[in-house]
Amino acid sequence: MYIGEIKEERQVMHEFKYKGDELFCEDVGIGGIAAAVGTPFYLYSHRTLLDHYRKIREAFSEINPLICFSMKSNSSLAVLTALVKAGSGLDVVSGGELFKALKVGCDSKKIVYASVGKTEREIENAIKAGILFFNVESLPELALIDKVSGKLGRTVDCTLRANPDVDPHTHKFITTGKAENKFGLDFKTVEETFGNSCRYPHVRLRGIHIHIGSQITEAEPFRKAIAKVGSLIAKIRKGGARIDWLNIGGGLGIIYRKEHPQSAERFAKAVIPLIRKLDVRLILEPGRFIVGNSGVLVAKVTYVKKTRSRNFVIVDAAMNDLIRPSLYDAYHEILPVIRKPVRRKMLADVVGPICETGDFLARDRKLPEFRSGELLAVMGAGAYGFTMSSNYNSRPRSAEVMVIHGRFYVVREREKYDDLVKGEAVPRELR
Ligand code: LLP
Repeated sequence: MYIGEIKEERQVMHEFKYKGDELFCEDVGIGGIAAAVGTPFYLYSHRTLLDHYRKIREAFSEINPLICFSMKSNSSLAVLTALVKAGSGLDVVSGGELFKALKVGCDSKKIVYASVGKTEREIENAIKAGILFFNVESLPELALIDKVSGKLGRTVDCTLRANPDVDPHTHKFITTGKAENKFGLDFKTVEETFGNSCRYPHVRLRGIHIHIGSQITEAEPFRKAIAKVGSLIAKIRKGGARIDWLNIGGGLGIIYRKEHPQSAERFAKAVIPLIRKLDVRLILEPGRFIVGNSGVLVAKVTYVKKTRSRNFVIVDAAMNDLIRPSLYDAYHEILPVIRKPVRRKMLADVVGPICETGDFLARDRKLPEFRSGELLAVMGAGAYGFTMSSNYNSRPRSAEVMVIHGRFYVVREREKYDDLVKGEAVPRELR
């Protein structure tokens, strides 16, 4: 078998497949796109994107949840527009994300806003925009929302983010629902706050929000968290307050390597019975599940450097483009864009040109013997790829391209050197 061959089950997961020896995105050859656009670039499949959105929508259709795509995972206007047009709402975490959400025409009543550090200005703008809920993460934040809302003569709807203290069995940096994490309020505080809600006359508390982590491959941690929240909701209702909504956040895992994540259907089957018992409207905030396998990062081999101890495939993409391997030691499969079945294999690291040992896209991989000028695709790069990219080493950020109905479109131009100095000034005193 060819190294990196797409597994049978994976083939149904996304639209990046070989036709002959060339890797295609839907019906478009990636080699041709690279020749037209240059490298590196992110490449998205519109069909895969919508397919994943619909999978989750259909799996939960019997309880008609509000799905708010978590735009921290990918906030390209083209991606957002495609999802919003398909009916998705958006989960935002900053004034900038709210700006983009409104820019793509998302109905403000489908926007929920989380973040432990919402500023007064961000709160004011979100209230003026008429978002559905703030997911409130602390009491000082609730007090500030109440104050701003009063000043604007409004009453705003909020949910309280509860920290259910469960272990989602994922990377420690993307675990968010354990007691020691900075997110949410402990259950006692949530219950007391619903009891004291008259202290916040310009706020209407409508429900509970949880988000326990990301890249979670099993339903059990979700079930545990929902069960815990269930008893909390019962207590709150006993105290006389209403709970209409439960937001269970995002976190559904995808296949990067050999994971066996639950399908949307299996996840839905596991949690719907619990939700039904609670008599609430459900909100889901998936990010990675929808966009992760809808995108790849295409790069070109600059050099192949063989040292006595290691082989390095040096490419023109780097940790500034895709930081997940450096930051989380995340695994992304590497596939040649044009495969050469007779090529020998070699053990190599795939690295970028950045001046850090941590600048790698893959380590210790058995790969075909790449040659300079050849293209490769870093798979599963649609979520937390471009959104976490930076200009480190003064590298212009890469282009983004989307294949839609058999054609490709540049949906974000590659940055130019001029963009690297945009807004900078050198005071006269320094000259
Ligand atoms: N809702 C909230 C409140 C969140 O904090 C997150 C992600 C999501 C939804 C979406 O989670 P998803 O469905 O995508 O797992 N940069 C990391 C992931 C950080 C996730 C942060 N919060 C990575 O590259 O793996």
